[in-house]
Amino acid sequence: MFHSSMLLAGLLAATASARPAAPNADIKCPVVLSGQVPTATQLTDFDSYATSKVFNPDYVRASSIPWSKSLLFPAVANSRFDNSSYKSLEVTISEKSIFQTQNGFRRAGLQIMGDTNEGGPGTTGVRTLHWSVKQDAARKLNLTHEYLNVWHETSDYSANQFNFEMGTLIGKSGDKNTFKVTNRQNNVIWSTAIDNTAWQNFAVTLDYNKNTLQVYYSKGDDALKSVTSALSNDNSGGGQFQIGILKKPTGTSDVVNSGYQESPINEGQIYGGIFLEDSANGCISL
Ligand SMILES: *[C@@H]1O[C@H](CO)[C@@H](O)[C@H](O)[C@H]1NC(C)=O
Ligand SMILES: *[C@@H]1O[C@H](CO)[C@@H](O)[C@H](O)[C@H]1NC(C)=O
Repeated sequence: MFHSSMLLAGLLAATASARPAAPNADIKCPVVLSGQVPTATQLTDFDSYATSKVFNPDYVRASSIPWSKSLLFPAVANSRFDNSSYKSLEVTISEKSIFQTQNGFRRAGLQIMGDTNEGGPGTTGVRTLHWSVKQDAARKLNLTHEYLNVWHETSDYSANQFNFEMGTLIGKSGDKNTFKVTNRQNNVIWSTAIDNTAWQNFAVTLDYNKNTLQVYYSKGDDALKSVTSALSNDNSGGGQFQIGILKKPTGTSDVVNSGYQESPINEGQIYGGIFLEDSANGCISL
């Protein structure tokens, strides 16, 4: 009796991790860039242009740590916009996640294949970037630090049109246990509590014609709802999206190059449903 129920529990667990439950919604608008990971993808596929179909194999990461050593395929049910053709991906950082000579940061950031710094497809018209996030209890972030997780950075690297952040924003007051969206001026325009178990789904519409920014959000398998209006924002400067983890140090005014980071670090952020859609004529997948 005990034995067979154990066996059944084991089988159910195996089924749950192998086959994503199907909380999914259709993508309604033309996809401009896709960061959705096909189920057959192997971790080593992310390491070279010959095999990486989804993300740039070379950026933005420590040159000595190929993506196959810092990405994981977590055994979680898929997020809202990932049907059974796709799976979730976890970005992790360690104490060695240092890009070039940026000794203040610990970072690993994905760039969607086809997104380019000069004249990329994410810099004209009306574009909505979607992503979902889930926390990994085994790789918790230290929210005493400021984290940049998703953003669009100008092509001259002088500013970000928007940021999606977690933790303690340096020099600002506020609740560290929240996700925050900040605008070009780094002002918080919206925030919501970090849920330690549920998927949380986000979308940001950048209207390059009207220079506005609008945020959408939902939890679990709920449909997205707008949580801000289309707010005025300076979307100029081109550039590209980045998705992952950038952990800022504490105790410094020169965050890129110096400051305190603990060691070792074993932190991760689970992502799903990454895509950029064409929101011309008000189209948006909710
Ligand atoms: C998942 O969605 C994509 C389009 O985003 C579609 O091409 C594919 O057939 C879908 N897969 C399933 C199993 O429905
Ligand atoms: C979290 O970060 C703070 C500030 O750097 C540090 O003092 C603390 O030891 C860290 N906590 C853990 C659990 O590493």
